[in-house]
Amino acid sequence: MIVRSAILNVMMGAARKAGRGLVRDFGEVEKLQVSMKGTSDFVTSADLQAEKILRQELKKARPGFGFLLEEGGEVAGDDKSHRWIIDPIDGTTNFIHGIPHFAISIGLERDGELVAGVVYEPISDSMFHGEKGGGAYLNDWRLRVSARRKLEDAVLTTGIPHRGRSGQEPFLKELVAVMENTAGVRRFGSAALDLAYVAAGRCDGYWEHGLKPWDIAAGIVLVREAGGYVTDFDGKGDMLANGDVVAANDHLQAKLVSLLKKARG
Ligand code: IPD
Ligand code: CA
Repeated sequence: MIVRSAILNVMMGAARKAGRGLVRDFGEVEKLQVSMKGTSDFVTSADLQAEKILRQELKKARPGFGFLLEEGGEVAGDDKSHRWIIDPIDGTTNFIHGIPHFAISIGLERDGELVAGVVYEPISDSMFHGEKGGGAYLNDWRLRVSARRKLEDAVLTTGIPHRGRSGQEPFLKELVAVMENTAGVRRFGSAALDLAYVAAGRCDGYWEHGLKPWDIAAGIVLVREAGGYVTDFDGKGDMLANGDVVAANDHLQAKLVSLLKKARG
């Protein structure tokens, strides 16, 4: 039996409560597929409802903490040291299309440093959680990044820039380089889960540009606590500011950064 800190219990409780609503709403999405407009309105309200529950639960437990919310934006708290960074549905496009791969992501920042993260996949009831210095877990299983040492054996995940996003051309250059040098690339559609999968050793690495803090805050903690590394494309730690992420196990992360850099030219 693992002993979790009070703060992680609060985060996991909030995620479970919001997750119950998302499971119910996900069941309804299929019925709405006939009308695209109907689907996106419904999903927007599911998103808002989940965010509301997360906010209420976390505020009840730690009234002074501030928030950075995907939907609600920045909400200052009396306690200037602590901030929750929240995505109520990461993988919204999957949710809209009835693909059961999406998650609630809750990160906690203390004095500008990420100290705890929860990525909860409600459909499979998978609770990825981690706290600085305390390790990363999937439910009760301790996580460790994969041990693969060669890029040629590695399976990576990424995010493909879609309509309305910039950076298609440089991304294609990166993709070609990764395709030529690894065992395969996956595009699952949730950055938070991509990072959780690196932490769990299911994938060996992950890269993406143009992310928001709520997509990655919790996942970064998971990867680090599972023994992996996360940087931006310059190998620095400014991921939340510039939205660029390269995560991998301890053997491959620097190799992946340099492969991507070389590819972009
Ligand atoms: C998106 C997902 C996706 C990533 C996009 C994100 P959303 O978040 O994390 O995997 O490729 O960049 O915007 O919109 O589903 O919350
Ligand atoms: Ca997101």
